[in-house]
Amino acid sequence: MDKKLKVALVCNIKRNRQDDTEAEFDEMETIEALKKAISKGGFEVLVIEAQGDFLASIQKANPDIVFNISEGLHGRSREGQIPSMLEYLKIPFVGSDAVTLGVALDKTLTKRLVQTVGVKTPAFWLVSKDDKLPEDLTYPLIVKPNAEGSSKGISDRSVCKNKEELAALLNEDRKTYEGDFLLESYIDGREFTIGLIGNGNEVKVFEPMEIIYRKLRGEYKVYSYEVKRNFQDYISYQCPPKLTKEEINELKTAALKAYRVLGCLDFARIDFRMDEKGQAYFIEANPLPGLAPGYSDYPMLAGFNGVDYDTIVLSVLKQALKRYGMA
Ligand SMILES: Nc1ncnc2c1ncn2[C@@H]1O[C@H](COP(=O)(O)OP(=O)(O)OP(=O)(O)O)[C@@H](O)[C@H]1O
Ligand SMILES: [Mg+2]
Repeated sequence: MDKKLKVALVCNIKRNRQDDTEAEFDEMETIEALKKAISKGGFEVLVIEAQGDFLASIQKANPDIVFNISEGLHGRSREGQIPSMLEYLKIPFVGSDAVTLGVALDKTLTKRLVQTVGVKTPAFWLVSKDDKLPEDLTYPLIVKPNAEGSSKGISDRSVCKNKEELAALLNEDRKTYEGDFLLESYIDGREFTIGLIGNGNEVKVFEPMEIIYRKLRGEYKVYSYEVKRNFQDYISYQCPPKLTKEEINELKTAALKAYRVLGCLDFARIDFRMDEKGQAYFIEANPLPGLAPGYSDYPMLAGFNGVDYDTIVLSVLKQALKRYGMA
């Protein structure tokens, strides 16, 4: 019998639940669910935490491939830290490489890039720590730390109606988040997220999933960390959404264009808003989408598309194996 391929699941496990510092990290339940799904596919699985002595532990484990869900520890390039080390060691890994993960974590850089392939994104301004506010701002706008994920630093209070509100919010946010801030025109409309899987000419774009706000936390519809954590209260999900065929195609085409220009590998999730005229706007790309069963959007939208949790996890792994010629 063939020897089982050894898959190392490389992750950051969430231990701090007091604030959002580890919001991007994974719950033990997610690790267990991924382990179960991967083993079910006939692979040997071991878990390695992305911390301290990672280089030594991964070399000792000597896996055939890494299933990387690690978020990295600090800095704008943190999501690329583990992929870079794996690339250095020539260990194959699932998902996008450090370049793509780094670009996608920088929301402004990502928007600049997707614009070049004709994908519309809301008007935006980048402000650094000591920058004066730009003169040409239009309101309402949403303020986001430029390089965070999992809605860190984004709440229903992040939408500003005027200069005074903006100055006060930036003042507050700068106490918690060190980096630059992205100011982006707030699109007051419907929200969609789209999952993709595959590489090259064989990318499958799932039907979009609509995030429908059943009630608001504040004045604006914002899919914030708080809303995500209590999604049963605030949100209902609909897939496929009530849109025309043309609108669905437009969303899917834009998602695929963004996936390609960002150089995403194996899988990703891309977020959009649509204004009342039906114009779709790219919000951000997640080449390292959450995989928490029963919680994260990526497995949820796969589910709506008829693909269960274990199957989507194994399919993502198989995309990588195929890409490395190991299938
Ligand atoms: N320009 C915008 N107009 C309207 N709403 C927006 C805009 N940008 C962000 N939002 C709202 O804020 C939410 C979080 O924004 P975004 O997706 O950029 O953050 P994130 O922290 O990277 O989220 P994720 O958890 O998907 O990684 C969006 O899902 C949306 O509800
Ligand atoms: Mg998002």
